[in-house]
Amino acid sequence: MRPRHLLIGNWKMNLGPKEARPFARELKAKACATSRTDVWVTPPTASLEAVASELSGTPIAVGAQNVHWANAGAFTGETSPLFLADLGVKFSLVGHSERRTLFGETSEQVAQRTKNALSAGLTAVVCIGETEAERTSQQTEAVLLEQLTPVLDVVDANSAVRVIVAYEPVWAIGTGKVASLQEIQDAHRFIISTWNSRKLSRPAVVLYGGSVNPGNFSEILRLPEVDGALVGGASIKIDQWLSLISIAEETPVGQ
Ligand code: 13P
Repeated sequence: MRPRHLLIGNWKMNLGPKEARPFARELKAKACATSRTDVWVTPPTASLEAVASELSGTPIAVGAQNVHWANAGAFTGETSPLFLADLGVKFSLVGHSERRTLFGETSEQVAQRTKNALSAGLTAVVCIGETEAERTSQQTEAVLLEQLTPVLDVVDANSAVRVIVAYEPVWAIGTGKVASLQEIQDAHRFIISTWNSRKLSRPAVVLYGGSVNPGNFSEILRLPEVDGALVGGASIKIDQWLSLISIAEETPVGQ
């Protein structure tokens, strides 16, 4: 359980530098004075510098959408956590389902990326979740365990404070099909108990992601096992994003 809600906007491959800068300026004007919500954003790599410079000195943290397991070398198309840190980036997503399914990233690679992000001082937001076929065949917990175990193996007492888990059922991402409250609660409880079995220095922080919008967010955030949300589509429409922030602000923490 986190003392404040956490709302992360995953812009995916949207908002290039020319659109990202005014978007970030609007966020700076309207979303900095939150009292119980941390607001973080992950622009695409090409927009990181513009957004990080616009939001520098504000409480809105800027993150990357992925990070490499090495700090430098012959890895065309990848980004070192050291370069991200130089830009003022504070965290990175790792293991997003689009990376796993479209780009073939394995759970072992996700763990190596997590490990190196943590070594560079970044926070890692580790994304896990089952496909519809895996849910239908009662494999949800097995899949969550397979994805989480290699990550927990690289986390130690010092770095655990910089690990966040995002439960994103693949079938709910970008589909408008949000998981039921019971499904969210069951998956989050499973993730929390798996985390607790490792005796890490602090409790699990677990976000929900998958078709979160201003119509369904309040009841999801009221679940005691939910620390916040990782949002795709609704995070790049400024009105919806500001409404999600207002909903978080109206929702007591730990409800
Ligand atoms: P949507 O909110 O568009 O379903 O995307 C969720 C997601 O993938 C966030 O990482």
